[in-house]
Order: sequence, then C-alpha cells, then structure tokens
Amino acid sequence: MFEALAMAPADPIMGLNDAYKKDANPNKINLGIGVYRDGDSKTPIFESVKTVEERLLAEEDTKNYLDIDGDGAYNRAVQDLLWGADHEIVTRGRAGTAQTPGGTGALRIAGDFISRHFPHARVWISDPTWANHPKIFESAGVPTSTYRYYDPASHGLNFDAFIHGLAQIPAGDVVLLHGCCHNPTGVDPSAEQWARIADVIAERGIIPLVDFAYRGLGNGLAEDAVGLRALSRPGCELLVASSFSKNFGLYRERAGALTLVSENAAAVEKAMSHIKICIRTGYSNPPSHGAQIVRTVLADPQLRAQWEGEVKAMRDRINGMRCAFVDALEASGVRRDFSFIARQRGMFSLTGLTPQQVDALRERFSIYMVGSGRINVAGITRDNVGLLCEAIAEVLKERNEVRV
Ligand code: LMR
Repeated sequence: MFEALAMAPADPIMGLNDAYKKDANPNKINLGIGVYRDGDSKTPIFESVKTVEERLLAEEDTKNYLDIDGDGAYNRAVQDLLWGADHEIVTRGRAGTAQTPGGTGALRIAGDFISRHFPHARVWISDPTWANHPKIFESAGVPTSTYRYYDPASHGLNFDAFIHGLAQIPAGDVVLLHGCCHNPTGVDPSAEQWARIADVIAERGIIPLVDFAYRGLGNGLAEDAVGLRALSRPGCELLVASSFSKNFGLYRERAGALTLVSENAAAVEKAMSHIKICIRTGYSNPPSHGAQIVRTVLADPQLRAQWEGEVKAMRDRINGMRCAFVDALEASGVRRDFSFIARQRGMFSLTGLTPQQVDALRERFSIYMVGSGRINVAGITRDNVGLLCEAIAEVLKERNEVRV
C-alpha cells in the first residue's frame, strides 16, 4: 500500500533548509527559513530563557499531563501580553486562551474549529502570504481565497485594493491578518490604515484571525500591537494565533496560543469548550516546557526587562542589517533601487529577484532564499553582506542592471 505512494514535494521553506545543510561550500549563506541569527550567524538561546530553564530543572516536580487547554497562568500571561491586564477584553473575561504547540498549532486548531462549526466559512489570506497558511486551512478542510495586499511595483502596500478586497468578503467569513512584520513582504499597514481596516471588518461582520508570530521584531513590543489594538473594539469577535518561536527564540519548544474573543464570558466559555474538543482529538494537550519559560519570564520583572532588551537587540540588528544591505548593494554597483528593504520591517523582504535569479544565486554562490525571492534579513551579517551583494550584482549583470 505504502510503496505505491509517489514522493511528496519538499516544503518550500523547510526543504530549502535541508538543502542548505547539505551544501559543502564554506561561504554558503542561508537567507531561507525565518530563524533569527546574530552577528556570528548563530541562533543563541536567550539569557533570560537559560536562567528560567535552570530554575525549572531544579524546581519542576512533575511531568503529569497539562489540561487540554494548557496552563491557566500561561494563558493569562498571553492575554496580558496581547492587550495589557487593564483592557476591557481581559477584565470582562471576553477572551479565552488555549496553549498550543507553536503558532502553527494555534492556526490548525482555529482551522479545525472553523471547519467543524462554521462549515460555510472561508478563510481569506493575503496575496502573498506565508507558504504554509493556505495548506494549514486546506488540511483542516476550510476553503481559502486571497485578498490583494502587496504592490510589487512600489514594494509597498496596495491599500486601496486591500480595502476594496475586504469590503467584498461575505459576513461570517474569516480574514487572516499578519499582526506585524508581514511574511513574506515586510510591509505592514500604518496605524491610520489599521483603523480603516478595522472599520471595514466591523462593518462587514468578518472575523479577523490575527497571526502574531513576530511581535517585537518590527518597531517594538508595544508598537507592533497597533493592528491588534485597532481590531480589539468593544463587542468585537476575533481570533489570535500567538507564537513565541521568534521573540523568545523557542523555535523547537513549540510555545504558542490560540485566543478567542467574543461578546461576553458566557459565549467564550461555550466556544472554548469546542476548541478543547479540537485539541483533544488533535494532540490531546500541549507540550509544557516552552510555555513555562514564557510564563516565568513574563511574570518576573527582572527577567522580563532582560527579555525585552534581548528582543530589542534582535530588532536593532535586523533593522541595522537592512540599511547595511541596501548600502552594500549600491556599493556593488547595482543600479536597481533596493531602498525599500530599509523601510520594511521584521525578518523578511521580497527582493523582487526572479525564480531564475534565486536559482542562480543558489547554484553558483550557495546563497539560499525562498523561490519567491523572499529573504530572511536576519541571515545577513557584517561578514557575509559583501559576498552576498557581489553575488546579487553578478546575477543582475546579466540583465544590465549593474554599473560597469
Ligand atoms: C518562515 O516563514 O520561514 C518561518 O515562519 C518558519 C516556518 O516554519 O516556515
């Protein structure tokens, strides 16, 4: 039976990582998967995380199961981080949170919940988006459609088309929004644009599902929540998928959460009872370790301040490399204007390089980026930026885009 199966295609992001690992070129550069790297190309464990891990090792006294929806103290910490403990969503008990294995786990549980209880709902996804988004909802049996978002000509937001697209979405459908640091474009709405987006969503009766995977990596922990705050209106309903892979560096520990907001606490209780069934039949209950770290760091003022500093250091390095990359491209004689990369935020930018140019960079220079031309800016360092820009200049030379 199994022998008859054809080979499935490699994942466009994880598969690229496998190819990078096998590449023997000592000068190889990985701009593929969205993982933070420091100036030495390392993905270190946060100091705040290490401190808590030592504490947990000494103090943890059981490996008993967690509840289906995880640890209540962690779930409350997630809500406090999303809105602040004083927000009416929190004080009025309008939110329910379930600890999940990473942000992907949260998205999948959201998909299962939508598929079981709102079988006519469709999830609307930005064009372009993270390659895994449509697949997660398709796997859960939820149909997806796209809305316009990015303008390749300006490398910015096509706001009019975005708003126009939102205004066509039928009431009761779900719109998936990137909370900040849009993956793959690095292009986010401004605060004024978020307010307009929230107006249209409220007028149409659409349910926002906010994928919040990169908080703190754009403009700041508070600044990056501008979109979530705009959507969080009195009486609103919404879903949030939180991930702590990036902003706590907990990738392999799978720390995430699904939060559901409804009109009142009774509605939340009912909805969460169904979410718990999705979890129980999916993976029973979540893994503990990563979430315990997050909970402990957020509850301890000293560790929290240390963590905020560590997030800031990541953000500053990424934003610094954005500028250094643009300058080095210019210094390599590249004529094309890449200055948009310095204006974008988060780990990613869409370079505008074609699939053929992406292939040429990989085959000739061992530079790995996603086929769409997406780069992980956090993979650029002071040591590799020169080599990277010379390789890009070589590839663009063939199109007469380089000064000679
Ligand atoms: C990415 O987009 O590279 C990250 O979100 C990692 C992943 O799981 O794809």
